[in-house]
Amino acid sequence: MSSSIQLDKKRIPRHIAVIMDGNGRWAKKKGIFRSIGHENGVDALRRTSRACSRLGVEYLTVYAFSTENWNRPKLEIDALMSILVSALRSELDILLENKIRLSAIGNIESLPKKCQRELREVHEKTSEDFEMTLTLALSYSSKDELVLATRRIAEQVKEGSIDPEEIDEKLIQEHLFTSEMPDPDLLIRTSGEHRISNYLLWQIAYAELYFCPKLWPDFKEEDLELAIEEYQRRERRFGKISEQIKAKK
Ligand code: IPE
Ligand code: IPE
Ligand code: MG
Repeated sequence: MSSSIQLDKKRIPRHIAVIMDGNGRWAKKKGIFRSIGHENGVDALRRTSRACSRLGVEYLTVYAFSTENWNRPKLEIDALMSILVSALRSELDILLENKIRLSAIGNIESLPKKCQRELREVHEKTSEDFEMTLTLALSYSSKDELVLATRRIAEQVKEGSIDPEEIDEKLIQEHLFTSEMPDPDLLIRTSGEHRISNYLLWQIAYAELYFCPKLWPDFKEEDLELAIEEYQRRERRFGKISEQIKAKK
């Protein structure tokens, strides 16, 4: 850890979600292809994953490709998909070394077959012995996720296997892609944009939001530590008053 940042090891967020934004602007500033920005984005993800695993974060969930990103020029989409496949191949050993399980959420069937195959393979190979789960949100839309969950629950009501009265927060949570994980404690967005862009809308109901002005390829371990340091300075009240939170400590 860099010397100036002191983190409380007992209050490391269990789940960090990241909107990895700014690859294109990073490349543009340098006068190079956007795809090179995305390639450098993979390096930033590797650094961040390693740092999270070293700090004891259990879940890291990153926004890699949104449903809306399908509207980008075909050339860029093709580059992104091919970077995804080559990154999955080249990063396997690093994932294994760092005991990181790779997972994916989103409309995975809409990705090219090659990507699906690679994702499945890396998931299987990293699922035996792991301490952290890295989840890639791919072809992901939070509103779509909620529509799918609603549809599945409606089907169960129609079949008569549940009553409408049984629909509660827990049931909805169980029908989301993220049913196996706790909600994010901290959401980081890079590139200076202050928006959520259809990411984990339900799950971030009580997450601490942190906006970093740096472009994603420039995001370093120290920036992650700064985000966690800021997170640790905040008081998460969950609707209560400060005195109640302090009394519980
Ligand atoms: C984030 O960087 C990566 C993806 C959305 C795939 P961008 O490509 O959105 O970069 P900017 O926002 O144009 O700089
Ligand atoms: C959000 O970034 C999606 C990812 C980081 C993959 P965008 O760059 O697509 O978001 P907007 O369009 O600027 O909100
Ligand atoms: Mg962007």
